[in-house]
Formats: sequence, structure tokens, C-alpha cells
Amino acid sequence: MGLDNPNQHCKFEVPEIIFGRGLLNQVGSCARRLGGKKVFLVSDEGLFKAGWVDRVMKSLQGAGLTVVLYDQVTSNPKDHEIDAGFREYVAQGADVIVGLGGGSAMDAAKGIAILGSNGGQIQDYRGVDQIHRPLPPLVLCPTTCGTGSDVSQFAVINDTSERCKVTIMSRCVAPDISLTDPDTLETLPDEYLGSSAVDALSHAIEAYFSIAASTLTDVNAAQSLTLLAKSFENAVKERRPEDLEDLSRASLHAGMAFSHALLGISHALAQPIGGLYDANHGHVNAALLPEVLRYDFPVVERKLSAFATALGHNTLGNEKYVQEMALETIDHLLDAGNAPRSLRHLGVREEDLPDLARRALDDVCLLTSPRQTDQEDLLGILKRSY
Ligand SMILES: [Fe+2]
Repeated sequence: MGLDNPNQHCKFEVPEIIFGRGLLNQVGSCARRLGGKKVFLVSDEGLFKAGWVDRVMKSLQGAGLTVVLYDQVTSNPKDHEIDAGFREYVAQGADVIVGLGGGSAMDAAKGIAILGSNGGQIQDYRGVDQIHRPLPPLVLCPTTCGTGSDVSQFAVINDTSERCKVTIMSRCVAPDISLTDPDTLETLPDEYLGSSAVDALSHAIEAYFSIAASTLTDVNAAQSLTLLAKSFENAVKERRPEDLEDLSRASLHAGMAFSHALLGISHALAQPIGGLYDANHGHVNAALLPEVLRYDFPVVERKLSAFATALGHNTLGNEKYVQEMALETIDHLLDAGNAPRSLRHLGVREEDLPDLARRALDDVCLLTSPRQTDQEDLLGILKRSY
């Protein structure tokens, strides 16, 4: 339940969810069910090389659909990539959009879909509920284990002229169908497997402590934490299919939690850092998370015992030590992700910290932070994470 408003009403909306190993082959029937004839498939070169794009194209063609591939998407998808994709989408006369990839490909697919029915520039839709026309049919297939974009009402795009991230939040941007095939994690490079799972961890934690949390988001956030505590380390070390499946499931649960409870200070600070340095989003969260938790702990005491329990601890008789136990497990998981643990090692310049703190103040994620903050405190967290 929410920290400040335990009796709140809540609304919980998720797309149709299809989850299971080997189910990527169903993407063709999904797109056809949505009424498509010509599919605009948004992905990236890495997935093409790994063979997943080919698998999806065969499924779409097998369902009698024509496919146009757009794979000019890079990490932290850029405004000009969305614009170019939109132009191609219109020129080709496509009617359904399929996004295949990590958060970048899926957010690019969302961005193209937004422009597809609303026109203009992607920056026009920054903030909350700025989209007025429903999007074209959209199917999202995650191939990493962290972003949650396949179930969330968020899209994040890089504004290259302002060198900042634009966060778009609207119920319109959640897709019609989220299709997860955990087998796709088998070809994900180690760096991205670890960093995307760290992103899922951050989503689950921030959603759990959000002031907009509800019983429905808590159960999803806690389930995500339990799966990560159980399988993260083994999945990275041994890559057994059952552990990889747990990571996919953890990402899905964290996505459902944060899409409704929203996030907090880690993501508010991660957005300007990602915009300025084009840094790995999961790594940025890994550098920030411990200090954000230490900052938040005094105001989330009521939920700490359940939090530590979700992470696998027996808290009975150990109530005094739940903070330490939880932090130790988080540290262990961040280490398992092989993430650089300081902003310095991500290329962040010390002289930029005051400006990053100022920029974070405008981020929508701060609206649901459990602890009200200010520029000075944000700068303190950045310095301690440096
Ligand atoms: Fe994230």
C-alpha cells in the first residue's frame, strides 16, 4: 500500500501479456489479430545479427503480412531517429507497429506510433498526458530484462539539440500486446544482461517506495525483487534458461509496478545524466541506487521489513538490522551485474554535478519520490555517488 495514502483508490491497466519461451513465433498472429496488413518492424542492428529480426519477419510473413524493417535505432533513441522512422512509416503506408529489442527499440517504436497518429515533433509530447489521439496498433517484444517499456505508459527519447531526455507519460503509449520470449536473453551480451537487470531492480525498488504505490503495484514490485534475489547472479554466471526466464519475469513485474506507481530519485537523476553523456541507463542507476536508498530509508521505515523479506531475508527477530540486510543484498546484486559503481567511472564530469541536480528537479519521477527533496540534497546524492 502507498506510504502516505494507504486507502487510496487505484486503477491498474496492463496490455495483453504473452510470456513464455519460444513464443516469439506468435508475433505474426498477434499483429494480424490487431487488424494489420503491413507491419512496420522497429529494431536494431544487434538483434538483426543475433537472428531475432529474421525470426520475427518469418512469423509476420507466415501470418500473411507484409513487413517493412526499420533498424536505424541506437541506444538512448534520438529524436532524429524517431522522425526518420515516422517518415518511413508514412511513406510505406504501414498499419501496425512492432517493436523488437531493448528499451531503445521499444521506445523508438512508441515514438513513431505517437507521431503516426498525432504528427508534429516528438518533443511536443513531453510530460504527462499530452497525447490526444490513440496510437496505431502496437506490439512490443522485449529482448532485454529491464526496461519494462513493453507494459509501461512511458517512453523516453533523447532530445539531441538540448542534450536531455524527454519523458513522455500517457496511458496511450502502453502497447496493445506485450510479448516476451525469455529465449531472446540467450544472445544478449553480458554487459547488457547485467545492466538491464539492474534497471529492473531499480524500477522495482523505486516503485515499492513510491508514494503512488498500491497493493497491486507492491505485489508486482515484491515479486520482481524476489526473482532478482533468487536468480540474478546465476543468470549472469551460468546463463541457464530457467534463470534467464526469472530475469525476464522480474522485468515484467517491475514494469507493471512502476508503470502505475512511477519512480523516484534514482531515475530523476539518471535522466539528465543519460541525456548529457549518452550513458548506459542501468549503469547510471547502479551508481546512484545505494545513496538514494540511504537517503530514502528514514521515510520508508514502515515498509522496510517487507522489503527485506521480498529480498529473501528472515526479518523475524532481526528488525533492527533490516536496513543493513537490504543494502547488503542490493550491493550484492549490483556487483552481480558488473556495473561500474560510481558516476566518475561512467565519464560524468564533477563540474557538471550542480547542473545535473538542477535538471533533475524538473523530472516527473520526483513527483512520486517518498522523500521530498531539493537541489541541494540531490547534489549531495550525486557527490556521494561520484
Ligand atoms: Fe529505467
